[in-house]
Amino acid sequence: MSDLAGTGPERVDAFIEESLLATDPALAACRERSRDAGLPDIAVTAAQAKFLQLLIEASGAKSVLEVGTLGGFSTIFLARGAGAGGRVVTLELDERYAELARANIARAAPAASVEVIVGPALDSLARLSGPFDFAFIDADKENNGAYVDHAARLARDGALIVVDNVVREGRILDPDPANASDTGSRALYAHVRDHPQLEATALQTVGAKGWDGMLIARVRKGEY
Ligand code: SAH
Ligand code: DHB
Ligand code: MG
Repeated sequence: MSDLAGTGPERVDAFIEESLLATDPALAACRERSRDAGLPDIAVTAAQAKFLQLLIEASGAKSVLEVGTLGGFSTIFLARGAGAGGRVVTLELDERYAELARANIARAAPAASVEVIVGPALDSLARLSGPFDFAFIDADKENNGAYVDHAARLARDGALIVVDNVVREGRILDPDPANASDTGSRALYAHVRDHPQLEATALQTVGAKGWDGMLIARVRKGEY
């Protein structure tokens, strides 16, 4: 991503990364080892990950939940946001991805503690205890509604919940019923709108990951 190949938005992402995001050997190694291990190339961009870190810092979140670890790229930024005394719990289905993530996170050595829990996230969420100040949901999209429900249940009043991939090249407007990821991403909007504790918006993005977006919800407990 550091050369300026690709489409306009891809090149702008490379420019943003080179201009604003410090070169970091641990992050470069995380990307390289994830690629070498054959992991899918679906991590958030560095620009998106830094945005999540800044949201965590600005909101003072110290306890962070992630659903969908992959090789730990986003996790490293979440942990940097949580900072000293903070903790991140991240959930991953695939044991092999989780092992690589643990190694990548250890190399980045964030001040916050990070726990990678292996297994279907729905099972892990049912066993987790909160409260969390911030959640990033980025796993199998068909379970997004259930993940948001768990995140809201485990959240502290005022917590933020961010959900990745809520635009999917616009396919959410007319999802193929056979595509559970797209139907799941689409269904999330009504689900969040109808959730009594959530106030939300969504922002579209373009860049190295194409045309997509993130939904951002704030949890308000106790008013209902
Ligand atoms: N957040 C990561 C990318 C996550 S990709 C980053 O930006 O760096 C989505 C991940 O969710 C994959 O690693 C996949 O194995 C995991 N996943 C898919 N279904 C899952 C499930 N049911 N429970 C937990 N993790 C799941
Ligand atoms: C896919 C998943 C993601 O979380 C993402 O950010 C991009 C693509 C996918 O499964 O194709
Ligand atoms: Mg994603």
